[in-house]
Amino acid sequence: MTLAHLCAHFRIDSAGIWLKISRVMKKPVTVTVTGAAGNISYSLLFRIAAGEMLGADQPVILKLLEITPCLEKLQGVVMELEDCAFPLVKEIVATDDPAVAFKDADWCMLVGSVPRKAGMERKDLLSINGKVFVGQGKAIAENAAPGCRVFVVGNPCNTNCLIALHNATGMPKENFFAMTQLDEYRAKSQLAAKAGVHVTEVTNMTIWGNHSATQYPDFTNAKIGGKPVTEVISDIEWLKTDFIKTVQQRGAAIIQARGLSSAASAANAALMTVKNLTTPTAEGDWFSVASFTDGTKYGLPAGIICSQPTRTNADGTYSIVEGLPIDEFSRAKIDASCKELLEERAEVLGE
Ligand code: NAD
Ligand code: LMR
Repeated sequence: MTLAHLCAHFRIDSAGIWLKISRVMKKPVTVTVTGAAGNISYSLLFRIAAGEMLGADQPVILKLLEITPCLEKLQGVVMELEDCAFPLVKEIVATDDPAVAFKDADWCMLVGSVPRKAGMERKDLLSINGKVFVGQGKAIAENAAPGCRVFVVGNPCNTNCLIALHNATGMPKENFFAMTQLDEYRAKSQLAAKAGVHVTEVTNMTIWGNHSATQYPDFTNAKIGGKPVTEVISDIEWLKTDFIKTVQQRGAAIIQARGLSSAASAANAALMTVKNLTTPTAEGDWFSVASFTDGTKYGLPAGIICSQPTRTNADGTYSIVEGLPIDEFSRAKIDASCKELLEERAEVLGE
């Protein structure tokens, strides 16, 4: 046994006696999930509990928020979590009180909100769901742990995130995110199928803008097998039309086919976003997540939650990838999505 090994498994008490401690565990991370009895959460919670999001050696405290009428259903989910006997789960709290749910939270995963039905756009949900994020933003600022990060899934997620941010007085704006990882995976999967390669060959895929029908999956900067997409897929017309439209409309296509909005794939993307934001990004690559714009990059307007190419650094901070070429075609698409985000912002902030 080496000294390092010994130090990892023993500590010296005040009397200088070696005390064996069975296992040196990391301090638990508190993860709050809202809408915890809903469809996405049913795919998400068990994977978080299994260590797929924060790591196989990272204990978690799960705080689960629901509206009062769904507390009984939530109890059923809690029973199932208990019945998995997950070694990493240190505590489960189920509540309808945001102050309890967000107490000491390190990660707030805001899933709880109404999904759209066929024929609706996601922004049609703003008047129903937007108000949820006023109260939750306040409750997070008042109760969460210092450095807490907030990740919004509930739609329309970019603007709901902006609402939470505006109500979370005192919290750093850079700690707020909304989900476009699912769109990135959808785009990668479409490109891989068209090129006849495995999806892992597709890298550097940016979703720009809003998680909506205006989002822009940027094929001009993406790569397949390390080469520009346009060198591998010669059908540029397909890239400019069907590809973009398929990604933009994928959520609606799933609702049409399933009668319910995406849930397992959304949970997977949510889990992977947090993993991407907590793990250094592979050299040369990036991932998509919507974050607060400062108005200095790519001509994006300041003060919106906009999806951009993002890298997580070795010290745990994140950076927007800078210097990507934006051609005229891309410029028009990015501007259209930002315009929509500005309109949504005006609707909720009364500008
Ligand atoms: P769902 O209806 O199955 O579950 C939502 C849950 O949220 C319900 O149990 C409901 O009781 C709960 N809830 C509602 N208001 C709440 C509140 N104030 N506090 C706590 N809980 C609350 O819906 P779902 O399929 O899980 O989808 C949830 C949201 O995620 C929807 O808005 C959907 O459109 C969105 N979504 C986003 C993406 C994305 O890529 N960003 C992908 C898929 C779904
Ligand atoms: C999705 O993209 O699948 C979700 O945002 C659900 C929806 O309303 O499309």
